[in-house]
Amino acid sequence: MIRDATERDAEAVVALWTEAYFTEGEGGRDAPYARSDFDATAAAAAHLLVAERDSEVIGVVALLAPEDPSRAVAGSGEAELARLVVASGARRHGIGRGLAERCATLARAEGWPAIALWSRAYQTAGHRLYESLGYERVLERDSVDETGFERLVFRLTF
Ligand SMILES: CC(C)(COP(=O)(O)OP(=O)(O)OC[C@H]1O[C@@H](n2cnc3c(N)ncnc32)[C@H](O)[C@@H]1OP(=O)(O)O)[C@@H](O)C(=O)NCCC(=O)NCCS
Repeated sequence: MIRDATERDAEAVVALWTEAYFTEGEGGRDAPYARSDFDATAAAAAHLLVAERDSEVIGVVALLAPEDPSRAVAGSGEAELARLVVASGARRHGIGRGLAERCATLARAEGWPAIALWSRAYQTAGHRLYESLGYERVLERDSVDETGFERLVFRLTF
């Protein structure tokens, strides 16, 4: 079941982000996520969704609206998908696809023309997922910051 996140999901969501982007995330986050990250994302995002199975939160994704200043790579008018994680023990069962598809449905319903997102080079499972959903790479928007942190940009246009 996919539903809107609530405050009660904070601990589980923080654990998912930490697992994927800190513990597994080579060269990614240098600190675990905290409750404040959940609160900030929940406050900023147009939609913060979780996937639940047997009363356990096993997936999460955020969809940022085109006017959201916390978008990192989306252009004018574009929504941004962020922080998609499925628990390592629940992957390859269509949960990530379900969360990303729900974001597309919501964006279309809002009348937003596109969803952009950024990903790390090693996040190849995500790349395959995005490509299977019709996302295309936007090479000219890729970036590397002064610390060597690379962002690969994908976009789905409606
Ligand atoms: C990326 C992620 C969210 C995918 O979630 P998931 O629930 O396992 O994905 P799904 O089962 O819905 O897979 C959908 C499609 O994605 C692709 N895919 C998913 N995992 C893959 C893998 N390990 N290798 C290759 N392709 C993969 C496949 O095309 C798959 O379709 P198929 O199963 O019919 O072949 C999950 O691997 C994850 O949380 N990874 C760590 C965090 C991360 O990298 N997030 C994305 C940041 S941009």
